[in-house]
Amino acid sequence: MGGINTLDFLKQVEEQRSQERALHWEGTFADYVDLVAKQPHIADLAHARVYNMVVSAGIKEEGDGQPRKYRFFEEDLYGMERTLQQLVEEYLNPAARRLDIRKRILMLVGPVGGGKSTLVTLLKRGLEKYSKTDEGATYAIKGCPMHEEPLHLIPEEMRADFKRTFGVYIEGDLCPVCRYRLEHEWGNNINTVPVHRIFLSERARVGVGTFKPADPKSQDVAELTGSVNIQALTEYGQESDPRAYNFDGELNIANRGIMEFIEMLKAEKRFLYELNTVAGEQTIKASRFALIYCDVAVIAHTNEYEYNSYFSNKENEAMIDRIFVVKVPYNLRVSEEVRIYEKLIGQSDVQDHRAMGGNGNGADLDLSQIHIAPHTLRVASMFAILTRLKPSKKAGLSLTTKMKLYDGEKQVGDWDQRHVRELHDEYLDEGMNGVSPRFIINRISSALVKGGKNYVTPIDVLRSLRDGITEYTNNEEERRKLLGFIDEVRKEFDETAKKEVQRAFVYSYEESAKTLLDNYIDNVEAYCNREKVKHPITGEDVDPDERLMRSIEEQIGVTENAKREFREGVMRSVASLMRRGQSFNVASDERLKEAIEKKLFADLKDIVKITTSTKTPDAEQLKKINEVVDRMCREQGYTPESANELLRYVGTLLNR
Ligand SMILES: Nc1ncnc2c1ncn2[C@@H]1O[C@H](COP(=O)(O)OP(=O)(O)OP(=O)(O)O)[C@@H](O)[C@H]1O
Ligand SMILES: [Mg+2]
Repeated sequence: MGGINTLDFLKQVEEQRSQERALHWEGTFADYVDLVAKQPHIADLAHARVYNMVVSAGIKEEGDGQPRKYRFFEEDLYGMERTLQQLVEEYLNPAARRLDIRKRILMLVGPVGGGKSTLVTLLKRGLEKYSKTDEGATYAIKGCPMHEEPLHLIPEEMRADFKRTFGVYIEGDLCPVCRYRLEHEWGNNINTVPVHRIFLSERARVGVGTFKPADPKSQDVAELTGSVNIQALTEYGQESDPRAYNFDGELNIANRGIMEFIEMLKAEKRFLYELNTVAGEQTIKASRFALIYCDVAVIAHTNEYEYNSYFSNKENEAMIDRIFVVKVPYNLRVSEEVRIYEKLIGQSDVQDHRAMGGNGNGADLDLSQIHIAPHTLRVASMFAILTRLKPSKKAGLSLTTKMKLYDGEKQVGDWDQRHVRELHDEYLDEGMNGVSPRFIINRISSALVKGGKNYVTPIDVLRSLRDGITEYTNNEEERRKLLGFIDEVRKEFDETAKKEVQRAFVYSYEESAKTLLDNYIDNVEAYCNREKVKHPITGEDVDPDERLMRSIEEQIGVTENAKREFREGVMRSVASLMRRGQSFNVASDERLKEAIEKKLFADLKDIVKITTSTKTPDAEQLKKINEVVDRMCREQGYTPESANELLRYVGTLLNR
């Protein structure tokens, strides 16, 4: 709890409690009908609740053929706009309007670590919070084990009337417990039946359930549908007495909200059968009881492999018919992938010690306390994305180019953003393969452990990825492909590294750009006027420095024959500026500016090369290195260690 002390914490707990007390509402059924008359939406069914929750967080229209952004997911899921748009617009929206689609199980299909669980968790946690808002307020018959909709009290024959009067559609019948109580406790007088506001909570088993297939021998359908209460049975004598039954299966308690079904296709038929009935008919079949109404959005997930084998089996046709599939591929944009890692690193639960070589160091490791050198996560992300992309059918468009275009780079060689849509259309199932964010994060952790430093660099991570590939696959071809991606990424990084270091050097050379330009202009002036210049050190009159002038002009392709014309042109602009009382500077002439910069970079190359690669720097070089490191720390996000390491690395690159 960063920065929160005990007192603050207790205060927060108390605030939460008092908030819940403030939201508390209890009344009779008659009071509830008053509420419904004023706010019909409180009687919404589960799918509508989920849909309204998502939409109420806001929608961003991105235009330009870009998918809409549903802000509900914005802070936790990145680069999944298309998936989320499909989920909301093709499933939740029609389901909320009670179209037939709501009778289908929503099934998320995607590769491991692609965000399926995160997505469902977001919806579950969201619903819990939403039930505490005015818009999401939810009410139930007090004491109902399934916290059911109070409107179930209204008899079938009066519902059409109710709809006409209040515009509210009623679906479902009383659960066996409430039916029993209505008769025996409330004397069949629905008006006095107690109703209260409920707050959805997975922990409290209200409106949010989860089911995960386990060992079939130990797992009973009762886990979904509830079970006979043996003790109560001896008291009440009959299994069909609702008092002798626990309506506490995951489906019972998930009523009104969401039921998550993990690894659905791993479950046995009898579980799927229950699921099928609840989704298709909104009913649960508990032994000895008539069908029990249940209003729940069933969200299942599974991996691609199980999906393919299940869906290709004719025997499963009936079930498949009841499933609405949303594919959840991996993110394919480098910058969004960087955000995923930043998020995972910011959380403390990313450390999978088993995956880190088990050398015992893992226990003390907290990624969020470690310096991650600039470009480290980017490099890891590029590798991840490359493994997920499919090669374009367009001739001459490399995977790296595709990666950059997907990431929004305006122009890459001959290709630009106009091609992105066509690229997307080439494959419908891109992103269903490749390495997962988990793999990458584990490799980053591993790099830290192995490195024994308190920082990690792109080179560390690339090395760690390389090591990890052996464990990742034993398919030789696949391995070679992945190693190839690492080389690709390394090349990209080398270019970035050189630029980064040069930039750090150049800034200290801004002065020199001016000096160099002034020097050039002095010489050109003398040349054009056939005069001498003063030697900067000896003060003697000497001929203009032809070598200096040419070394600059050559940078932009001014030939020997064209040099006079070029120089006269420069002098004309100098003169024209002077007449207007302005002085000629680096920014005055685009071409000359380019020439000066290129010349500086070329000169710099040697300086950088020598400075960065020397083992025993002299006092001058040491000063330079310190300046550069300083700047990299101040302006580019390095620490002295990571900056020095990068300098040495670039040194070896330039000396190759
Ligand atoms: N597109 C994404 N945006 C944000 N976080 C993501 C994204 N994809 C994956 N993650 C993160 O990666 C981790 C793994 O994702 P998650 O557990 O949700 O995947 P999953 O699809 O359920 O995987 P599995 O099939 O292994 O159960 C999570 O911490 C998740 O937040
Ligand atoms: Mg999962």
